[in-house]
Amino acid sequence: MAVAVAVAVAVAVAVAVVPSADGHRHARRRRHPAGLSHTTLIKMQCARRTVAATVVVGGFFGDEGKGKIISYLATKDSPEIVVRGGAGPNAGHTIRDGERTYKVRMLPSGFLNRNARVMIGPGVVVDPDVLLREVEDFGAQKQAYLDANCGIIDPAHRERDSGGRLKDTIGSTGSGTGPANSDRALRTLRLARDVESLSGMIADVPHEVNSALAAGRDVLVEGTQGTFLSLWHGTYPYVTSKDVTAAGICADVGLGPTKVDEVMVVFKSYVTRVGTGPLENALSDEEASKRGWSEFGTVTGRPRRAADFDMSLAARAAMLNGATQFALTKLDVLHPECAGSRSFGDLPAEAKKFVSSIEDALGIPAAVIGTGPNVKDVIDRRAA
Ligand code: IMP
Ligand code: MG
Repeated sequence: MAVAVAVAVAVAVAVAVVPSADGHRHARRRRHPAGLSHTTLIKMQCARRTVAATVVVGGFFGDEGKGKIISYLATKDSPEIVVRGGAGPNAGHTIRDGERTYKVRMLPSGFLNRNARVMIGPGVVVDPDVLLREVEDFGAQKQAYLDANCGIIDPAHRERDSGGRLKDTIGSTGSGTGPANSDRALRTLRLARDVESLSGMIADVPHEVNSALAAGRDVLVEGTQGTFLSLWHGTYPYVTSKDVTAAGICADVGLGPTKVDEVMVVFKSYVTRVGTGPLENALSDEEASKRGWSEFGTVTGRPRRAADFDMSLAARAAMLNGATQFALTKLDVLHPECAGSRSFGDLPAEAKKFVSSIEDALGIPAAVIGTGPNVKDVIDRRAA
């Protein structure tokens, strides 16, 4: 390890075009150590591959289907830890496993894998009532942890978020997330370490995450909301109260930039937006409903506006997140013949063309494709 660190200091950074598992070429930054033998290089790359941190983030305005993709990856890849960054209980992830539907707002979506520890990073604000209820309802007592430094949402934050400008103009979810983050910036917010009812769940999350990676285990980092709801990169002021791009999510959980192996951006096959703020080429309610694109917010139950897949937004999301791959959800809603398909080869030509057009425009591969609401309804195109 000491050798690898010393070598890393002496490397020159260059951009290389690396072919992905399914033959697509995409540009990734790779470090080319000067003067190292080919064998040493390969050994270093192998060592890197076993230390796998994958970050999953939303590519549009939230509600891209991250919950389903994360619970699939958590079950398929068996990471040691699924750790959540992002804003707070303003997020709603829906997960369907067999006949059961889970709607989670605080618990990381990876809890379906009972062998994984699920953790909330210190950058996330937590509503203890919501978290404790989800832990109880979903039987996650033995696997759920949060950092001592997570900020705490009090009833007064929910109150401030449920009226006035935040609700009427910004279309806030009323969850107290924004007011709690504002108190955190003012350094008046209570932290999880001050809350008795959470004491049994407290962990040093950055330490756990980095120790798991150092021991060669996999960590799945779960983002919330979507790129264009980012406080820095979104459609300000119609945004959430944090940066929610991959870099922000990593900071939330204490993961340094050099530790990230893959960034998977999740796109839905069409774009939706709940709350206020611009949505280019929004369809009329009738048209959205005719296409089967009428959706309702997980947290607020408000109707979501819908529009066609937006390639330029997707390309910008890939850029802002440094995406190395993407997931595409709800392909079966766009092309009903895809429903339940588990193999790319079986897809109708038009659906394949849609997927390839995104790969070509973004220069990264479609790693996972959702073909139905169930966790197992996916085409997984990553290397077997
Ligand atoms: P806030 O984050 O509750 O303050 O809401 C600010 C804006 O972000 C509103 O338009 C919300 O509808 C939107 N928003 C926040 N979180 C989510 C999410 O997880 N999915 C979709 N929209 C969200
Ligand atoms: Mg949602």
